[in-house]
Amino acid sequence: MSSPAPTPRPALAVSCEDVARTFGRGERAVVAVHGSSCEVPFGSRIAIVGPSGSGKSTMLHMMAGLETPTAGRVSWPGLPDVAERRGQIGVVFQSPSLVPALTVVENVALPLVLDGVPDAEAQERVTEALELVQVTELATQLPEELSGGQAQRVAVARVLASRPSLILADEPTGQLDRANGQHLVEVLLATAEQLDAALVISTHDIEVADRLQERWRMHEGRLKTDEAGLKRTSVPRATHADTTTAGGQR
Ligand SMILES: Nc1ncnc2c1ncn2[C@@H]1O[C@H](COP(=O)(O)OP(=O)(O)O)[C@@H](O)[C@H]1O
Ligand SMILES: [Mg+2]
Repeated sequence: MSSPAPTPRPALAVSCEDVARTFGRGERAVVAVHGSSCEVPFGSRIAIVGPSGSGKSTMLHMMAGLETPTAGRVSWPGLPDVAERRGQIGVVFQSPSLVPALTVVENVALPLVLDGVPDAEAQERVTEALELVQVTELATQLPEELSGGQAQRVAVARVLASRPSLILADEPTGQLDRANGQHLVEVLLATAEQLDAALVISTHDIEVADRLQERWRMHEGRLKTDEAGLKRTSVPRATHADTTTAGGQR
């Protein structure tokens, strides 16, 4: 009998090596992110927590390839095809960046149209994504007619419809009440599961962070990925008097 093959290391959706990002120059320079490193394998579910201004958005934008680090290196070992990568990385921006002149359904369909997805399939995916985030009834509305929370859900639908392998969501529940926020996180988790994707969510909300396997912390531009004590375990949370039991979500 041959010896069992070693378990392959999970492929990395994104890897950051000592990345930093400074905005501006000279006396006005702001260091948003200091040399920070991290690895995000497919299948991982990671929360990045930290106060406002700590560099979460900048970090996520670099992981998405939208922001170029001023030092260090970001790579996507598991997404090697540069041309395909854009479609494989789904970003939910902190302020939902919907196209004002397009309806909800057109906004969600836009990336699919740009990627040349056939009409029938695009329509099917858009319908499914709108249902998942529970905004089907808003399909023909314009972004200006939506509340902040509704726009946020549409922005999530737009990402889900493109079926990315790496989902980066920047405070996606920031404008939602607790129940809707929890639902949205469940949708993101279920979608990530279905797509076998990596999911990274930046959040202020400890209940959101608690739903994810791993918790990283951003503090004054430095990312800490190794706070073992923060790793999610099955220990029940005691800090929120009103939390439901684990698994209590739909
Ligand atoms: N485009 C930019 N130009 C100048 N400063 C920026 C820019 N983006 C972010 N910053 C600054 O970088 C720091 C980190 O910001 P950000 O990444 O948005 O943090 P967070 O998402 O945790 O609130 C802040 O001090 C912010 O003002
Ligand atoms: Mg931010």
